[in-house]
Amino acid sequence: MTQILPFSATAIEQANALIRAGQPVAIPTETVYGLAGRADRGEAVAAIYAAKGRPSFNPLIVHVESLEDAEKLARFDDMSRDLARRLWPGPLTLVLPLRPDSGIASLATAGLDTVALRVPAHRAMRALLEATGLPLAAPSANASGSISATRAEHVMRSLGGRIPLIVDDGPTALGLESTIVGIFEREVTLLRPGPIGIEQINEVAGPIAMPRSRNRINAPGQLLSHYAPSKPLRLEADAAAPDEWLIGFGAVSGHANLSPAGHLVEAAARLFDLLHQADAQPLPNIAIARIPEQGLGLAINDRLRRAAAPREIPS
Ligand code: TXA
Ligand code: MG
Repeated sequence: MTQILPFSATAIEQANALIRAGQPVAIPTETVYGLAGRADRGEAVAAIYAAKGRPSFNPLIVHVESLEDAEKLARFDDMSRDLARRLWPGPLTLVLPLRPDSGIASLATAGLDTVALRVPAHRAMRALLEATGLPLAAPSANASGSISATRAEHVMRSLGGRIPLIVDDGPTALGLESTIVGIFEREVTLLRPGPIGIEQINEVAGPIAMPRSRNRINAPGQLLSHYAPSKPLRLEADAAAPDEWLIGFGAVSGHANLSPAGHLVEAAARLFDLLHQADAQPLPNIAIARIPEQGLGLAINDRLRRAAAPREIPS
């Protein structure tokens, strides 16, 4: 059952209680409706993916109340601080180096060492950020493969029955997802065009580079890359070879286990932590148990297959 409540103090109180309990809530921002969940708990982030039915893990945008809160999660330089001061709150997302002590769940950044941050301008999302006092991961509130939702009815059509609550505050003003820019070593790259134009960014930050290929290996400055371990990865393993560090699942126990009980939400929440842990071991290879191809298992397997594929060479 999905409840729709008009924006009010009561609606925000209910949304706050659900978010604290790790459940996702749909709520408008000035761009599109977002499906918000606490970004500091892997299982809450996994619940967002489960509701959307997304067959892959992409890093999500983390929403915060203020630049001050954002600085607790990522490292800002003069340029990113200038952009934030001029354009926040608003439809601009900054991808910045993640602080190691940020407390952000690795599933929210899909294991990357960067984080996408935004201070939204909409009263409903701002009220929820204030009530929870938590960073909130929020992709657009639509099922995988459908278009972004700009009205509560769109969210209901797409996610009805799969989430507990939609906070309705009418149609969104912009109807288009935020502009995303990455800032790495003083180079500004446009990662997604959106409501904030390039000219507005140029005014503050000077010339900006155009989007890069999505298919390059992970290297400093390549903000679009996906995290993959640096070691060979063997899938569907029943047991570890002597040179392998085995990530278990269910009855395949391994050196560490994604979820001894075989729960896919728990496994998704721990996936990137255990891949990083495996990468840091002295053993030269990684193996991982079979993950069922259902529910969140689809997204986990998508990520594992990419991590196991031979590396592409940067051009
Ligand atoms: O307007 C918006 O931005 C909406 C509202 C709800 O705030 N949110 C939204 O989130 O569009 P989502 O998850 O649908 O889009 C996130 C985008 C993806 O294209 C993702 O690849 C990119 O942000 N992204 C997130 N973290 C990133 C990172 N660390 N590096 C590069 N790209 C990142
Ligand atoms: Mg989206």
